[in-house]
Amino acid sequence: MALIQVLQGDITTVATDAIVNAANPTLLGGGGVDGAIHRAAGPALLAACRPLHGCAVGEAKITAGFQLPAKFVVHTPGPIWQGGTHQELTLLANSYRNSLNLAAANGCQTIAFPSISTGVYHFPVALAAAIALQTLQDTAATTASTIRVIQMICFDAQTKAVYTAALQALTA
Ligand code: APR
Repeated sequence: MALIQVLQGDITTVATDAIVNAANPTLLGGGGVDGAIHRAAGPALLAACRPLHGCAVGEAKITAGFQLPAKFVVHTPGPIWQGGTHQELTLLANSYRNSLNLAAANGCQTIAFPSISTGVYHFPVALAAAIALQTLQDTAATTASTIRVIQMICFDAQTKAVYTAALQALTA
């Protein structure tokens, strides 16, 4: 059973086997955590993303981590929040599930996630946290059972408080 931890910090400094990037479908970089990961990894990351020809929302693709402490970066575009009537909940769950499965398929035993879609994409944080943690727990117990540690890396205290509460609710 994987250990799930909620931490506050900068995901570009985390030395797990893989870190997950909250990307956009072009996979050509952006702002937020996407921009931070590309800056920390160096230009080789963008060069490795170009031949991937993008990624559909909820799907995941993997590259090396280059100058990051992490060996791999799993890139997944989360859904843009549109009120909850455009499959956003399912697509967010898909991003977490597909990212965890892809990391496990590449031999990763530890992985760190940012709070996907809750920044520029405006997904409500409490709803996102409940979906993220339930999906990660279910996937780690089934198709990604080789994953030992999952870290949710929250950039700010407010987001950390929400994910901590969601984790407590999951394990209550
Ligand atoms: N480490 C961890 N978390 C971070 C970091 C970081 N260095 N920088 C930002 N975050 C957090 C944000 O505070 C937010 O909680 O990541 C979460 C996701 O926010 P965004 O990065 O805005 O991602 P998202 O909402 O999924 O929007 C994706 O933004 O950057 C562009 O190219 C990206 O178009 C895509 C869109």
